[in-house]
Amino acid sequence: MKDFAFTGGRPDPGTFPTEQLIEASAKALRQIGGDLVNYPGENGNQSLRELASKRFERREGVALPVDDISLTSGSMQSLELILRTFVKPGDTVLTEELVYSGTLGLLRYLEADIVGVPVDYVDGMDMTALEQQLEKLKTDGKTPKLIYVTVNHQNPTGAILTLERRKRLLELADQFDLLIIEDDCYGDIDFIPNATPDALYKLDRSDRVIYIATFSKILGAGVRQGYFVTSAHYRQQIHRGRWDAGTSGLASVIVAQFFNDHLDEHLAITNAVVKAKCQAVIDTLSANASDLCTWTTPRGGLFLWIDLPQRTDLDKLQKLAGRKSVGFSRGSAFHCRNEPIKSIRLAYAYCALDDIEEGITYLCHAIRDAQS
Ligand SMILES: Cc1ncc(COP(=O)(O)O)c(C=O)c1O
Repeated sequence: MKDFAFTGGRPDPGTFPTEQLIEASAKALRQIGGDLVNYPGENGNQSLRELASKRFERREGVALPVDDISLTSGSMQSLELILRTFVKPGDTVLTEELVYSGTLGLLRYLEADIVGVPVDYVDGMDMTALEQQLEKLKTDGKTPKLIYVTVNHQNPTGAILTLERRKRLLELADQFDLLIIEDDCYGDIDFIPNATPDALYKLDRSDRVIYIATFSKILGAGVRQGYFVTSAHYRQQIHRGRWDAGTSGLASVIVAQFFNDHLDEHLAITNAVVKAKCQAVIDTLSANASDLCTWTTPRGGLFLWIDLPQRTDLDKLQKLAGRKSVGFSRGSAFHCRNEPIKSIRLAYAYCALDDIEEGITYLCHAIRDAQS
């Protein structure tokens, strides 16, 4: 049976650059050779850090300081290292109300008091609501430890925080002395030119933004290469809790070599394919469910968010969709208070383009049949 997997933020498997990575491996290994007998160290392989710096410069117009970059096993390890350093049980942490389930799981594990701020599906976190929340916390005698925000093609809503809101966030962070964790997991997966405004990290003048990025979403989650960027002050604190002796230098040199040779070309190819898949999902939803649901129009990233009618029985929907192996993620998994919201998230890059119409048509029928 076909597998219509609209779960998990994975890139398109069809454009995974196997042959180019084989070439990159041979080239990189010849260059690095016996150097791999050494531990990579807490910052990790220099060539991939230089590449990460250039990647940022390509989009933002300024390079990242290579010495301020630490490679990690995916961006999830960055998150784990950072949040474990700064969040202790009972600490207040602000996030978007709808937020990446992995971050939520980690914050819950750390016993953080998670305070969600409403997010609109287009423009991102609501800054008026954030200000009100910060004032309220202050009145209650609570000092939030940090704010976590995914500014570009947010998971799960696809929102892009506007430039105006980014500037306001930085002002509020100054006013309330907040550390900002900027998760740019979906940066560079753009369907339109200049899709995203300047990074918070670039706009920050007060050394209060820790920037996180990854190669998982533009190459593959299996390569486990991510990074965080911050000044020595925070980095030293974060590295004090790091015991893995560094991120695989072997994987780092291969990824660096591949992207040094192919970054623009690879992004052009993969973004075009992912955009076409996203459009196929939208076209099928429009043909079959426009009287039932509303959904976002992604400008990049890997996710489309669907608001279902309030009378939808989500257990029934999951059961019906499961019969044809149509997978989706329930909205509640991304809700900071785990509220049983009537929404679902579709990840559109993984399923084969030719299967999307069949899978989404079936999903639409299942949604219709799951109305009580
Ligand atoms: C917002 C966000 N941050 C971080 C991650 C972790 O990704 P990785 O560890 O593969 O880099 C994900 C994965 O889905 C994500 O959506």
